[in-house]
Amino acid sequence: TIKGFVFDLDGVITDSAEYHFLAWKALAKELDIMINREFNEQLKGVSRMDSLERILKYGAKDQLYNQQEKEALAAKKNEHYVSLIKDVTKKDLLPGVSEFLTELKAKDMKLALASASKNGPFLLEGLGIKELFDTIVDPAQLTHGKPDPEIFQKGASQLGLSVEECVGIEDAPAGIEAINAAGMFSVGIGSKDSLGAADYLISSTEELALDNILVAVAHTK
Ligand code: BG6
Ligand code: MG
Repeated sequence: TIKGFVFDLDGVITDSAEYHFLAWKALAKELDIMINREFNEQLKGVSRMDSLERILKYGAKDQLYNQQEKEALAAKKNEHYVSLIKDVTKKDLLPGVSEFLTELKAKDMKLALASASKNGPFLLEGLGIKELFDTIVDPAQLTHGKPDPEIFQKGASQLGLSVEECVGIEDAPAGIEAINAAGMFSVGIGSKDSLGAADYLISSTEELALDNILVAVAHTK
């Protein structure tokens, strides 16, 4: 039986995936690298430094900067990103998310956050939903980022649950891959093009409903 939900944050709970994209796009442009939304799909769920590496590689400029310079570039992107999310409030929850979280708590589901973002706790605070989460996986403590299953395995274990007792929710291809590799039931929010590997796919957060997910879990067994 399902007893817990392990959530991605950016693009699932709030539209911050768009802000990550805008901040990376601006930084890339300064480096004379043009990135578009299609390329950005590969950055979703990926850590800050790994995202920078992918962008530099894409622009064939990965040999141009040393570690210290890369850290400065990543810090610059983060400053821009933080300026974009600083005034986030409850109103920035994606449609249906507040209702879904309330429904999960009413059904005694345990909630974990499995976001690669070091800004996760700050965002949850601004969105006014930090207290709903029983635990937050610290991305700084991970050996491997998504698509490695580690963050979802940790989410389940920090809740005191097995992966089979949890559902993972994601908007990124790397995230769905991570949930599947963990052996957890995966819910994808997005298009079949990107998230075809999800066990259960919905096109928007408005469609999040506990009963539908539990029916899908039962059918997958
Ligand atoms: C993930 C986002 O949740 O967090 C990525 O999907 C982002 O786009 C990553 O790069 C790391 O976030 P941060 O806030 O630590 O730079
Ligand atoms: Mg995401």
